[in-house]
Amino acid sequence: TASRSADVTADIAVIGGSGFYSFLSGATERVVTTPYGEPSAPIAVGEVAGRSVAFVPRHGKHHEAPPHGINYRANAWALRSLGVRQVLAPCAVGGLRDTVAPGDLVVPDQLVDRTHRRVGSFVESGAVHLPFADPYCPGVSAALAGADGDVRSGGTMVVVEGPRFSTRAESRHYADQGWDLINMTGAPEAALAREMGQCYAPLALVTDMDAGAESGEGVGQEEVFALFRANLERLTGLLASAIESLPDPEGCACGSWSDGVELTYEVPR
Ligand code: ADE
Repeated sequence: TASRSADVTADIAVIGGSGFYSFLSGATERVVTTPYGEPSAPIAVGEVAGRSVAFVPRHGKHHEAPPHGINYRANAWALRSLGVRQVLAPCAVGGLRDTVAPGDLVVPDQLVDRTHRRVGSFVESGAVHLPFADPYCPGVSAALAGADGDVRSGGTMVVVEGPRFSTRAESRHYADQGWDLINMTGAPEAALAREMGQCYAPLALVTDMDAGAESGEGVGQEEVFALFRANLERLTGLLASAIESLPDPEGCACGSWSDGVELTYEVPR
């Protein structure tokens, strides 16, 4: 049973690190409870480029939740209950090959889910099988990629369970598969957004070269955090321009795949 308030709504959301709080002007916080438990934090709702934008810090206000401990379902449901139809998802990634370097921004177009201990779906009964061949919304991806000439599009992101970084052998194996980027939070976040009928795309900041990459020395969390902090302003600027150029989500296949499908879970609003 949700506590909802009709007066606080948002069409767009950013799910990202806690550094993004300052991004919203005139933000108010809404405590949203969901049938799936608590989201990572109260949802902040404020304005960006004249649009109403919700923000949830993926790891909690003070980075309490490790990647495998995030309540991904509660986050997705809570955002949808506020009206969110389009989600921009900045995230930190490791580079698996020397075609990328720390500081690069990439909008990947494919995902490999190598997580194995997470609740990855709202579907708990019945036959509901969502299309996921193209995991990311083309409209949101294009807005992110077009926001800055430096943003690269395309590439495959493998999502690992964590919280540990990969061994050299694992990292080389992922690169040998032809995958480009590695991360710990991109799944099940993307699939849950699709289940909620939301348009979703990630914006990946390369924070390190993973352990197997030619120039990789093995990863430590300090370099990841430091690189993210150093690029925060660039990222927020880019997100703001992307928000200005988001297409109308109406009619996008991300929201209409469930037309005629008997969903066995509630999509709020
Ligand atoms: N997030 C940032 N860098 C990463 C890496 N090397 N592996 C997994 N997740 C990451």
